[in-house]
Amino acid sequence: MANLVIVGAQWGDEGKGKVVDLLTEKADLIIRFQGGNNAGHTLVIGDNKVVLHLIPSGILHKNKMCIIGSGVVLDPEILLGEIDALRLKGHDVTPDTVAISDRAHVIMPYHKVIDHARDAARIGTTGRGIGPAYEDKARRTGIRVIDLINPELLRKKIDAFWDERQEYITKILKAKAPDKDEIIEKHIILGERLKPFVTDASIMIDKAVKSGKSLLFEGAQGGNLDMDFGTYPYVTSSNTIAGAACTGSGIGPTMINKVLGICKAYTTRVGGGPFPTELTDELGERLRAFGGEYGATTGRPRRCGWLDLVALRHTVRLSSMSHLAITKLDVLSGLDTLKVATAYRSGDTVMESMPADLELYPEIEIAYDELPGWEENLSEIKKFEDLPANCKAYIAYIENKLGVKAAIISTGPKRDQTIIVEDLF
Ligand code: GDP
Ligand code: IMO
Ligand code: MG
Repeated sequence: MANLVIVGAQWGDEGKGKVVDLLTEKADLIIRFQGGNNAGHTLVIGDNKVVLHLIPSGILHKNKMCIIGSGVVLDPEILLGEIDALRLKGHDVTPDTVAISDRAHVIMPYHKVIDHARDAARIGTTGRGIGPAYEDKARRTGIRVIDLINPELLRKKIDAFWDERQEYITKILKAKAPDKDEIIEKHIILGERLKPFVTDASIMIDKAVKSGKSLLFEGAQGGNLDMDFGTYPYVTSSNTIAGAACTGSGIGPTMINKVLGICKAYTTRVGGGPFPTELTDELGERLRAFGGEYGATTGRPRRCGWLDLVALRHTVRLSSMSHLAITKLDVLSGLDTLKVATAYRSGDTVMESMPADLELYPEIEIAYDELPGWEENLSEIKKFEDLPANCKAYIAYIENKLGVKAAIISTGPKRDQTIIVEDLF
């Protein structure tokens, strides 16, 4: 029995969904603790592909409890759409398998309007209203799930700040404000549908722990998109590092036993902001094509580049990662040489961790190590020993440089395209 936090070690899309689905077999509760439907977690089971945005990636297993924790911002329409789509495919989505924290904040239509009008172009956000919803939460003017399921409270809370919101949207952002009555009517209905799933999730988690159950916390985004430690302001609006599993689900740090960082064998990023090892040439195109690097949420082409140990050292430390899962090694097959960033240099200053000052990034030079690549196709390899020698050397190099062992090696999107080096539960 163990309680394990899974987080992205880079800028998101590292393969968290695949690994969570895989490890769910041994877990009892799977908990999303931050972010919202900006996330796109892809699960490939046989020939079927499922992309989940809000429901934890444990939902395809039977008899597991999937929890949307208080730290999540939840778009009720998207969540209900996801529930309906899963049910249509024959999955068991009921209050016995999905629970929603009554304290989670709700993404309202005006949050999406603000995101599109204000942040989408500037930051390259997903446009899902994530930032404005967290902003309302911090401003203490947000709508929580507990309000959504109480029509009177919902009306009162929307009314309270309506004039101010409308003025901001129309006069400052020059955008079209949504209709208040329409929002209220629609959200009363959405609230009614969600009501059976709503509970005090922190109590549910506590009871589960006390009865000896195992928890799997599913992070969204990645450490370098963390609101405090990422490449601010080109970040998401929540904490994406392991500590957020506590605040976003309502448990204390003594409950966490292990932290698994999901690390792609190269780097990708979607949206704006610094990306020191980005490849804008045909090699970047090759990674995008071979890795299928297109956003699971917005479909945008992902920016691609070499593995970056500077960026990884930063997130390994911030999340105190105990283990790594290295994904998408198969995408690197066929490259003669693999480059890995080991340090950034600006003038005489050598940086081994991510600098806070964004002004430095355009001028930094990057120190690279070069490692020999491998030709072999990895997608059918089931045992660590059978990996090509240069692939094993690449893994050992990453482990040594970061001081963290790889417990999982992923060689394709499917469940069985995985080598478990160490059991985590
Ligand atoms: P997440 O947001 O971290 O869950 O990752 P995404 O689902 O957004 O993106 C990861 C993509 O890579 C998905 O299309 C996965 O199916 C796929 N994937 C995961 N692991 C591997 C792997 O080891 N090899 C390959 N080729 N694809 C993988
Ligand atoms: P998963 O969980 C990759 C990026 C956006 C943008 C920035 C802010 O699938 O790894 P936001 O809409 O959150 O305000 O956008 O963060 N971003 C992601 N990039 N994977 C994600 O999630 C992301 N969620 C947000 O592209 O740059
Ligand atoms: Mg994703």
